Amino acid sequence: MLDLLVRNATLPDGRAQMSIAVQDGRIAEVAQGLEAPAHDTLDAQGLLVSPPFVDAHFHLDSALSYGQPRVNESGTLLEGIALWGELKPHLTVDAIVERALRYCDWAVARGLLAIRSHVDTSHASLPTVHALLEVKQRVAPYLDLQLVAFPQDGLLRTPDGLCNLKRALDLGVDVVGGIPHFERTMAMGAESIRILCELAAAQGKRVDMHCDESDDPLSRHVETLAYETQRVGLQGRVTGSHLTSMHSMDNYYVSKLIPLMAEAQLGVVANPLINITLQGRHDSYPKRRGMTRVPELLAAGLTVAFGQDCVMDPWYGLGSGDMLEVAHMGLHVGQMTSQTAMRQCFEAVTTQPARLLGLDGYGLAAGCHADFVWLQARHPAEAIRLRATRLAVFRRGRRIASTPAATARLELAHRPGSVDCLGPA
Ligand code: FE2
Repeated sequence: MLDLLVRNATLPDGRAQMSIAVQDGRIAEVAQGLEAPAHDTLDAQGLLVSPPFVDAHFHLDSALSYGQPRVNESGTLLEGIALWGELKPHLTVDAIVERALRYCDWAVARGLLAIRSHVDTSHASLPTVHALLEVKQRVAPYLDLQLVAFPQDGLLRTPDGLCNLKRALDLGVDVVGGIPHFERTMAMGAESIRILCELAAAQGKRVDMHCDESDDPLSRHVETLAYETQRVGLQGRVTGSHLTSMHSMDNYYVSKLIPLMAEAQLGVVANPLINITLQGRHDSYPKRRGMTRVPELLAAGLTVAFGQDCVMDPWYGLGSGDMLEVAHMGLHVGQMTSQTAMRQCFEAVTTQPARLLGLDGYGLAAGCHADFVWLQARHPAEAIRLRATRLAVFRRGRRIASTPAATARLELAHRPGSVDCLGPA
């Protein structure tokens, strides 16, 4: 007797009338039309069942702090960093934990069950690190939280930057972060990349750096990141986050750069909602979009994910943990409107970030964890179009969140009584 049988599901790859058999928290079998006795069954009604959403780039320590102590008037990255600096001395572990747990509740409701969060290691007493390590433990039954040691104020720019980052790693933070474009000079940025990649290689850790998050067409840290990745043998374990300068770079230089990134098997994270609002702030018109070259990087075979980055914090006053909203913005900013590209946008918030995080047992196949989301949409592009309702969210085969279907009642003569905006079957 199975624990759960999901019937009549459509999978993201287009297979229809699929059944998913669940036993002991794992997927036992995925097959068309499979029928078997089960303690619990779900008729997916031909709608989409997807592996859970994954956010490859987030800041859980600052999430939901919007307005504390004031809002970002200029809307720039640098005022956001300054504002976060004003708030930091007043942060308490309890307050960070409370905000982070609240955000994780939102995430679960949205079917977002894995998050890679950067955690600011700049404060000597590491309140953000202590708080998020506690949160990681508390949410573990329902959400995979991976933490990145992030020297927000610069690894070399501040006297204790490297020391604090190492202490965070010793406390149990998973991934090595960095912010080379915020160091004092291009040379010091490159030096920070060398130090951090060597540190990660020595400790067997992955790397995920904020890299070239500017509109400067001459910012070259991703080139250094690709080089150092190869030099210390971290191919496939290093991610460059943001890479917004690539938007502004000379095309000839990019034609050299992307193959170097592919050689190093760099992962890439674009953060469409944040890039489109923070970048181009010094432009009059035309205003640059600032998002990195997602279609071209995908075409070169790189793993590219879309991240949420910020929700209601010093850099961004909006957001709700909805990775379909992130994919929706990425699709528009990247002009990824072909059928293939829309599917890639869905993958950029599911399978691609799962690969970057190195998630174990992710996917809809026999042997994987029984984690999935039932969406009120028929296929991935429709899920993005509607930012589809997460009808049910399952973790290890157990339903952990439900949302009623989005259906409006119409009161019009000679028209249907209700409407849900689903496209033709
Ligand atoms: Fe970030």
